[in-house]
Amino acid sequence: MILVTGGAGYIGSHTCVELIKAGYEVVVFDNFSNSSEESIKRVEKITSATINLCHGDIRKKSDLRKVFKNYSIDAVIHFAGLKAVGESIQKPLDYYDNNVNGTIALCQVMQEFGCKKIIFSSSATVYGIPHTTPIKEDFPLSATNPYGKTKLFIEEILHDLFASDNSYKIAILRYFNPIGAHESGLIGEDPRGIPNNLMPFISQTAIGKREFLSVFGDDYDTHDGTGVRDYIHVVDLSLGHVKALKKLDDIKEILVVNLGTGCGYSVLDMVKAFEKASGKKVPYKFAPRRSGDVAKCFADASFAKKIIDWSAAKGIDEMCEDAWRWQSKNPNGYN
Ligand code: NAD
Ligand code: WQD
Repeated sequence: MILVTGGAGYIGSHTCVELIKAGYEVVVFDNFSNSSEESIKRVEKITSATINLCHGDIRKKSDLRKVFKNYSIDAVIHFAGLKAVGESIQKPLDYYDNNVNGTIALCQVMQEFGCKKIIFSSSATVYGIPHTTPIKEDFPLSATNPYGKTKLFIEEILHDLFASDNSYKIAILRYFNPIGAHESGLIGEDPRGIPNNLMPFISQTAIGKREFLSVFGDDYDTHDGTGVRDYIHVVDLSLGHVKALKKLDDIKEILVVNLGTGCGYSVLDMVKAFEKASGKKVPYKFAPRRSGDVAKCFADASFAKKIIDWSAAKGIDEMCEDAWRWQSKNPNGYN
């Protein structure tokens, strides 16, 4: 049985689908602070499986102990966390508490129950301002905001845990920019309030919920002056977790892997691709650079191919088509 913390969220729900398709049984543990139970119902619809669901908070050991008592957990895929960069600057203590304290509590309860396998959702944000691209796993690490620091601290904690006991099996997966949705259009990204990230903002603009997209910066050192990122289809990303899980038993060291496509696309490339996929206009205006943004961020994805035999299969057209199917079938998300 695989415990999926944060399994009702965007990446967690898609990963549940791929885990079930690969023959795993899952139990989802979520406090629904940024998700709804409807996503789990949709996962059940896609997979025709029943999902074991536990309401709880990773900071509460009593909640976690209930799950470990009720199920025989072989490994944990740990998505639960807060993820909004801007909010983390406003509420740093909430981020350190939720993400860092939550992960420590989870690891302590895993230890109590003798569960030593964990896959952790890290982020390309841990590369800070990369001195060059593509980004390899051994690049220097830094963080420019509390959210990024929580990811860095948790990575350090997991390294120390492994150093204390080499029988742990730990994979740290550093995601680039996950976008898109399951091809069924039943599950997808459902941000609360005004989206911070590019893709949900573009899709809400295309459907008429937002008047125009503000393109943050037009004078970066990129092919068209707008920021370049490595957008990765959420289903590809989910399959990366299945591959990492299969590899866990064989690893002798902590596994640290970039999950990206290795390709970089600009904001304007994404606008064009989305207009093509949706047949809708995405009006935009240039705006000043957003503080903390880098010009270019994309992965060297070769280590993932070598070590877990994973590479992304879906290109930006498919990412945009699937994002649009989700958006147009669910104009108000899961509500
Ligand atoms: P999400 O907000 O959709 O999912 C996170 C889930 O965790 C939500 O269902 C939320 O309710 C739950 N959760 C939060 N705090 C919890 C707590 N204390 N106890 C129990 N459940 C809790 O986010 P996502 O995009 O699916 O991201 C999943 C993970 O991947 C996060 O750790 C995030 O930091 C990381 N990540 C995301 C991105 C991205 O762009 N989406 C990129 C890199 C890394
Ligand atoms: C992408 C590009 C913006 C919104 C963030 C986190 C990172 C990771 C993924 C969790 C940039 C531009 C955006 C808009 C725009 N999350 N943009 N107008 O900043 O690469 O990464 O999400 O770990 O940690 O920092 O993603 O989608 O916000 O921005 O022009 O309204 O789109 O400037 O070039 P980012 P994003």
